Amino acid sequence: MTLTSNRPARAAAPLLALAAVMAATGGCRGSRSEDPPVHLQQNMDFQERGDAQEYNGFFADGRVMRKPPQGTVAVGFLKDDDHLYRGRNLDGTLADALPPSMKLDEKLLNRGEARYNIYCAPCHGDTGHGDGPVTRRGGGFSVQPANLHMARLLPESLGYYFHVATNGKGKMRGYKAQIPVEDRWAIAAWVRTLQVSHTAKASDIPAGNAPSPSAAAPTDTKKGAAQ
Ligand code: HEC
Repeated sequence: MTLTSNRPARAAAPLLALAAVMAATGGCRGSRSEDPPVHLQQNMDFQERGDAQEYNGFFADGRVMRKPPQGTVAVGFLKDDDHLYRGRNLDGTLADALPPSMKLDEKLLNRGEARYNIYCAPCHGDTGHGDGPVTRRGGGFSVQPANLHMARLLPESLGYYFHVATNGKGKMRGYKAQIPVEDRWAIAAWVRTLQVSHTAKASDIPAGNAPSPSAAAPTDTKKGAAQ
């Protein structure tokens, strides 16, 4: 009898001790306290180190974040390829070709067309005639977007279109912040493609590539008949 009546009391003793410890250290879930929480398992939560934006008396200006020494260039950001990044030849003139690291192929022109349609066509129009949708809305432009087929622009080098897309011209702003460098070259190639589509003569088509008359699209046939 004595044995059995003692058993619950003995089992409760450690539980009571644990509850006392928890009450002293943690309090109850949901209860408020002005004190910082007890951080039993520290892991690496508290370290002697400077965190971003923190004050640190070690430096005279008190800032933990240091400025890189003047002239520092992040890896991969040197941009010393003048042709690729500035559209220039070594003598400083505008280059009239794609940078050697890029290849003129169907993929590049498709890319150029897609990027042109996003970034340039709203003003210059799908075909480059300077009649994009923004010119028909919102009260008009003080300066009309250029017609990319105008005689003055046709002799310009490929690098010129890259340069204008990069830095802007007159009232047009540059797009180097929005359009990656190789996409700006792809756009330049597409602008040239739009121009050539209006000026090319049959004799410009390389021998062996001329479409046979039977392969002409129906619209071409119609145009031909009207001429
Ligand atoms: C927000 C409208 C707008 C967008 C978008 C725009 N342009 Fe223009 N662009 C203009 C205007 C306006 C002019 C005429 C600027 C002037 O004469 O002051 C112009 C002029 C030009 C010219 C002629 C420069 C010269 O020598 O007179 C070229 C080339 C050109 N843009 C290419 C582009 C290309 C490539 C893109 C896309 C990356 C583009 N533009 C995007 C408005 C735009």
